[in-house]
Amino acid sequence: MKHPLKVCVFGGDGIGPEVTDQAVRVLEAVCERFNIPLEATSYPFGSNSFRETGVAFPEASRAAAAEADAVLMGSVGDPAFDHLPPMERPQRCLLDLRQLLDAWANLRPARMSGGLLDCSPLKADRVKDLDILVVRELLGGLYFGKPRTRTGEPGDQTALDSMVYHESEIERIVRLGFELAQGRRKKLCSVDKSNVLECSRLWEEVVARVAPEFPDVEVSHMYVDACCTVLVTDPQDFDVIVSSNLFGDVLSDLTAGLLGSLGVLPSASVGGPTSLFEPVHGSAPDLAGQGIANPMAAILSAAMLLRHTGGHEEAALAIEAAVDSALAQGLRTKDLLPRGERDNACGTKEFTDAVLAALQAHV
Ligand code: IPM
Ligand code: MG
Repeated sequence: MKHPLKVCVFGGDGIGPEVTDQAVRVLEAVCERFNIPLEATSYPFGSNSFRETGVAFPEASRAAAAEADAVLMGSVGDPAFDHLPPMERPQRCLLDLRQLLDAWANLRPARMSGGLLDCSPLKADRVKDLDILVVRELLGGLYFGKPRTRTGEPGDQTALDSMVYHESEIERIVRLGFELAQGRRKKLCSVDKSNVLECSRLWEEVVARVAPEFPDVEVSHMYVDACCTVLVTDPQDFDVIVSSNLFGDVLSDLTAGLLGSLGVLPSASVGGPTSLFEPVHGSAPDLAGQGIANPMAAILSAAMLLRHTGGHEEAALAIEAAVDSALAQGLRTKDLLPRGERDNACGTKEFTDAVLAALQAHV
């Protein structure tokens, strides 16, 4: 018997557990169809775990993540802990997890599908061929830079975050951006703020140094502010965008908005021996527990998991086609509908049921 695909599942907080449960249903169904032995096991992670056990990222969860073939994560974040400094909140475990897995590259693909076209806030001719891959550096920059301090008395305080990048960190993500562009439309846009930031100047220099190794890839540079404008006016101009941790975080939410909702974008965090698959969206506490969250990002993250772990391309494509088919049937969770039409929304489970039915019909 083949070694089973060992997936460590962290539902996390807010809508995380709900959407992850649905993604696991789809994963199980597709693995059965394609004869991929699967062992998916859930472990505590995040604010709920902290509340129950006093630990956000328990030792057993760490060990399970490190030993798994892949980690499927929902989301973290709970407003009950928002009074704490960011690095003391239980949701910090997500940064710990990325570090533990040495996941230095975060791939966030945004591709328009026929079924989603009417959900975009932009006119169809501006987005119908939209296909952008944001390649976000994930273990450096402002997220991890030291020192990080708060000094002074209330009313007279100073806060300090540090943006730090070593050339080697920039080089590996830029190189990956070029390689991924080679497998796509061969366009790479490096996004920075080199008119102000020293880290960005270094970033730009590294891109210029690496570029001659990829003569078939057309390189461009954009400042992050200008990039936001062009993403809205001419999103179809972009192929691969490579950027730092913070800018990549912001730009990927913008690309989600172009498709109509934060609820649709999956991601893969790669680089280490075990990769992490997580929706781009957060824990959306206002939607949690009502069965109305969009499971699309989680389900598509499961597709990315199959593609990147073990190369199960056919199974990944089957999930993506089934999601397209559910959308084409007109199924829409609340986040994808304009305000006046939200009474017609389907629920988390109903959307997934349609995906599962499409999977059975097409495979
Ligand atoms: C994301 C999220 C996270 C990030 C938060 C929850 C720490 O916004 O994955 O984009 O900023 O990386
Ligand atoms: Mg984000």
